Amino acid sequence: MAEKARIAVLISGAGTNMAALVYASRMADSPYEVALVASNNPDAAGLALAQAEGIATFALPHKGMTREAHDAAMEAAVIEAGAEYIVLAGYMRILSDAFVARWEGRMLNIHPSLLPLYKGLDTHARAIAAGDSHGGTSVHLVTPELDGGEVLAQIAVPITPDETPASLAERVKLAEHQLYPRAVADYVSRWRDPAALLARVRALALALPETDERESHGSPGFRVGGEKSGKYFAYFADQHHGSPHIACLVRTGGMDELLSLVEGQPEVYFKPAYYGASGWVGIILNRPGVDWDAVGEWLERSWRGAAPKRLTRLMDVADAF
Ligand code: GAR
Repeated sequence: MAEKARIAVLISGAGTNMAALVYASRMADSPYEVALVASNNPDAAGLALAQAEGIATFALPHKGMTREAHDAAMEAAVIEAGAEYIVLAGYMRILSDAFVARWEGRMLNIHPSLLPLYKGLDTHARAIAAGDSHGGTSVHLVTPELDGGEVLAQIAVPITPDETPASLAERVKLAEHQLYPRAVADYVSRWRDPAALLARVRALALALPETDERESHGSPGFRVGGEKSGKYFAYFADQHHGSPHIACLVRTGGMDELLSLVEGQPEVYFKPAYYGASGWVGIILNRPGVDWDAVGEWLERSWRGAAPKRLTRLMDVADAF
């Protein structure tokens, strides 16, 4: 089994979701382990449980601190613990934009509603007052918009006739304790799953004009220019020729550019076998926190290099405005 991903769990209160995450991580096939439990509330009940479980803890009240300073101290503890992901579990603090930006794609939250319904507080009371048939819970990626990031998983929970916010909250938590460990496990495994990575590359490549997919030497390849005269602008390489990387190969401006990319950011770029000799670079995809916008930009640039004039001319005209 591959090394386990390390997560830091941030809590403010009871920490029952944190406990569910911890106990799920104790199962042999868990792809993650809890490296730290941190709280803005030194009295959070969950901290004692984490300590009893032998997990590192960190507590720092936010009172009297700026949001930025408090976030920075929490983040320092997360980094010190060697965590690659931050998992918010009832962490009742709004985070500063810079902190969120630094962890984008590596920070998850659980929210007690069926998002996009009822962002913010008092979710259960609002669902009951609206006469909804169901409340529920959502796991989502954290972005600067409060409770607005991509939803990864949800469970709906029926609202009974004499439901109160407290009774609904209690049942939703039971659902959360099932949902969160599974959603975290799936998410931290996603970046090593070749099928998931290929699906993302494929979606970006085939969104470009006049593209198709054709296998080349056993790898998925992406071409532009039509069935007969199409030219390859990208390949998907799954640990080829003894390489540990799952990668997207795209064309650079030449050997100088290729080498400076590989020397400057060896965690992102490598020189692939065979293709490297003609100036193609490999963008490493099996690592946490891949910048998929950057992958998209590389694909577009490589597409431009291979596309017939009649297609690029239109793009150049558009760019001039
Ligand atoms: C959970 O129900 C979680 O969804 C909610 O707080 C509760 C924490 O319980 N989170 C939010 O409302 C975030 N806006 P726990 O401390 O027992 O895990």
